[in-house]
Amino acid sequence: MKAIAVKPRQPNSVHLAELPKPRLEDVPNGRGVLVKVLKVGVDATDREINEGLYGAPPPGYDFLVIGHESFGIVEAVGPNVRHVKPGDYVSCTVRRPGGSIYDRIGRSDITSEETYYERGINLLHGFMTEYFVDDAEFIVHMPTAIKHLNVLAEPMSVAAKAVQQAYEAQRRLQVWEPKVAYVTGAGQIGLLTTLCLRLRGVEVYTIARAPKPNLKAEIAEQFGATYISSKEISLTDLAKKTGKPDLIIEATGSSETAFECMSVLNLNGALVWTSITGGDHKTTLPTDKINLEWVLGNKLLLGSVNANFRHFNLGIADMAQGEIVYPGVLQKILTTPVNGLDQYAEVIRLLTEDKQALKVFVNVANE
Ligand code: BGC
Ligand code: ZN
Repeated sequence: MKAIAVKPRQPNSVHLAELPKPRLEDVPNGRGVLVKVLKVGVDATDREINEGLYGAPPPGYDFLVIGHESFGIVEAVGPNVRHVKPGDYVSCTVRRPGGSIYDRIGRSDITSEETYYERGINLLHGFMTEYFVDDAEFIVHMPTAIKHLNVLAEPMSVAAKAVQQAYEAQRRLQVWEPKVAYVTGAGQIGLLTTLCLRLRGVEVYTIARAPKPNLKAEIAEQFGATYISSKEISLTDLAKKTGKPDLIIEATGSSETAFECMSVLNLNGALVWTSITGGDHKTTLPTDKINLEWVLGNKLLLGSVNANFRHFNLGIADMAQGEIVYPGVLQKILTTPVNGLDQYAEVIRLLTEDKQALKVFVNVANE
């Protein structure tokens, strides 16, 4: 079967590879789930892997099949699989356990080992192919009622984890009711995080570069947030107007913005960093001022990456509620389809050059 692959660490190596079709029996203990791939989304991670910035092939291969945002239909299940059956729509988690205590309790998303195993990213083949098989533990059921949101399951799991981790960590305060939140960045993670927070009744300001009108602004505002162009007002001036935010979720992809956010967070607030910055950017900062404010204000900085099975389910619940509260908005994120795995060059071109493409995804097969 066909697959879109790269040679990790070799810039612009995207190509079509050939793999044998996986079998249910590849997974031990009758726990295999064989999935026919319908759609796969791509994001900045895929772009940076193709640029050679990171990523590693599985042992024994010189290529890596990309694609970590999966959506498909179950074709067959092993005898010990209970929660999905043939015909069900599913997505799949990305990270696989290593050996740490966190990996052993189903929390590979917070592994304490340096090496992490992620399908389509590091040391494991991804989903940008015709079929995949995996242990039932990693297969997430997607209700038919939201199958039109398909490849958003994975990015939504990342957004849902970031928000859930903030609330979890803020239990340190005994009482914490965030009123104002900033979401920096209005890519898929920024917009999905905006939704998660709006569903929790928070006043949200979604901040990105492009001035209005634009699609990102339209989506953020249809979720009931206020969209702010960072070209028109600085974070500091915005905070003077809105009051300092109790929570900031940072998802711009800019490490400089990530640090800039430290200057506006409210007392007792939490700042969550989600941007994966593969570069080597440097800057100078008012470190005495920030340090003083953070100590005197009991502020929290939290990094959040990846998502496990439970975060996928939280994200799916939020997408379902999102469709009830803000019907038809989520699917506006799915801007840019490409038809067929043969179009791998076009996938990368759109990811790299098309600034209007909020979400590029591949229609791999019909049901
Ligand atoms: C993926 C995450 C992954 C992270 C780091 C993101 O693009 O969505 O699942 O953990 O990259 O590799
Ligand atoms: Zn991703």
